[in-house]
Amino acid sequence: MKVSPSLLSADFGNLAKDIDMVNRSSADLLHLDVMDGVFVPNISFGFPVIKYVQQLSRKPLDVHLMIVEPQKFINEVRDCGAAIMTVHQEACVHLNRVVQQIHDAGMQAGVSLNPATPVSLLKDIICDIDLVLLMSVNPGFGGQKFIVQTLNKVRELRQLITLTGSNAQIEIDGGVNDVTGAQLAEAGADILVAGSYVFGAQDPLKTIDGLKNL
Ligand code: DX5
Ligand code: ZN
Repeated sequence: MKVSPSLLSADFGNLAKDIDMVNRSSADLLHLDVMDGVFVPNISFGFPVIKYVQQLSRKPLDVHLMIVEPQKFINEVRDCGAAIMTVHQEACVHLNRVVQQIHDAGMQAGVSLNPATPVSLLKDIICDIDLVLLMSVNPGFGGQKFIVQTLNKVRELRQLITLTGSNAQIEIDGGVNDVTGAQLAEAGADILVAGSYVFGAQDPLKTIDGLKNL
């Protein structure tokens, strides 16, 4: 299993310390949640913070944009050194064009679905994207309870990927811990995002190892 710790639950008063922990960990990616207070009812951090994170991080940056009109910021995200730029399907009228523009900017393209958005809406884009980020909570906040229906969505998405021959990876975001992580592994997830479970743990390094071994 791949693991992408979400910096949203880190200590913002000492980000360098938490980034150093992730650098020393077995994590594969570092997940960064950008919120605009419009697409989601919360505001997190923006590009100056991500640029600082990029200077310190040895893990590829997995940038999750929970914002309206994400196509306006493709160059900014690229300039922050992002490896993956994930936009919400619900935020993009011209999703195919946005995915092309993310690729043209040299990044991997991810598409995220809110809990109530069906997997079937990805049918005509699945072969053009590198990653699907299924939200297993309503986006906006860390520390929420895992929505169990996500497990069916993972199975359905795995079927769609197999059927179409897509190379997209399945990433899950929200309420991930040892129990839900094991269920997600069984359902067919490739990458687990974990915020509060990792940064709230007594031993974050061991906690990341635990998810890695699922
Ligand atoms: C929520 C964010 C998540 C968040 C997950 O809107 O997209 O990445 O950090 O937090 P946990 O793992 O605490 O549910
Ligand atoms: Zn996220």
